[in-house]
Amino acid sequence: MPIRAASAGLIGLGLPAIAAAASAADRVSTPSIFSPVSTPAFAIREVAFFVLGITAVVFVLVSGLTAYALVRYRRRGSGPAVEPPQVYGSTQIELAWTVVPMLIVIVLFLVTARYIWGIERRPQPDNALEITIVGHQWWWEIRYPTLGIVTANQIHLPVSDPEKPTPTFITLQSVDVVHSFWVPQLAGKMDVIPNKTNRVWVEPLTAGTFVGQCAEYCGLEHALMLLTVVVHPREEFDRWAAAQQTPARDDPAARPGRELFASLACINCHTIRGTPANGIFGPDLTHLMSRGTIGAGAAPNTPQHLRAWVDDPATYKSGALMPAMKLSRDDVDKLTAYLVTLR
Ligand code: CUA
Repeated sequence: MPIRAASAGLIGLGLPAIAAAASAADRVSTPSIFSPVSTPAFAIREVAFFVLGITAVVFVLVSGLTAYALVRYRRRGSGPAVEPPQVYGSTQIELAWTVVPMLIVIVLFLVTARYIWGIERRPQPDNALEITIVGHQWWWEIRYPTLGIVTANQIHLPVSDPEKPTPTFITLQSVDVVHSFWVPQLAGKMDVIPNKTNRVWVEPLTAGTFVGQCAEYCGLEHALMLLTVVVHPREEFDRWAAAQQTPARDDPAARPGRELFASLACINCHTIRGTPANGIFGPDLTHLMSRGTIGAGAAPNTPQHLRAWVDDPATYKSGALMPAMKLSRDDVDKLTAYLVTLR
């Protein structure tokens, strides 16, 4: 099972590779709603604790009374079996166990609605970063329309200063089926729906690397839609953006691979800015090597894995829509030698 082994390695072993690829990524934190780093996620944790508090009281009460009844009314000794008095109906008790849960549900509803309303009505400030995330089977396209950057699967964001907040407002779209955008430490889940635009915003207050996953079953490779979010201090983010804005490197040593790439069907699906390749079905490869993984988390992005992926993507992701091109070993070597120059 090399395929699943590779994906299992992601959360365990592969992530240090992502960390190594990004300068802000000192440490990848385990995704958890209980360690938020962004304003909406802090609010979600508050609601979560409130709900947990109420349900904990209900749990202790119910299991406590059950335990008490079990012990207090257990069968004692070996005397003749006596039926306890049979009671039929009690208006007071029935009212109590109908009205109290109803009140609890109403309180939970109102509190949740208030938090959702609070998060959703936040107006977009002028200095907010605007990005668009497009769900694909099975990867994420990430566009920065104001910066002219297109990348995939690894989102880079500036940290927001509470004194002068710079949140990021995200437009969510899908080209095929319903996906769900979820980075637990940054914000709540939001569905990514074809022919509908959803919005979500994040405001990370801490630099670091945070991971998320598609949270809506979307077909064969739903499990391999990893999202990595690298939150940088402002200057570092600006440096990243400036590097991404440059056209692809044209390393003379990699010319044979570059020419081969341009002569194959690769260019129908992939864009490499500064070359004839301008396809839009697959990820933009202009700065491919700046990303931590291949195939949305299917494998760490190393030359060796990249070569195996180009040879046959099904090695890591059996459902990947990119076909094996049936190239000769020599051609795969040339392509890989070119791709690794796209930093
Ligand atoms: Cu995309 Cu699940």
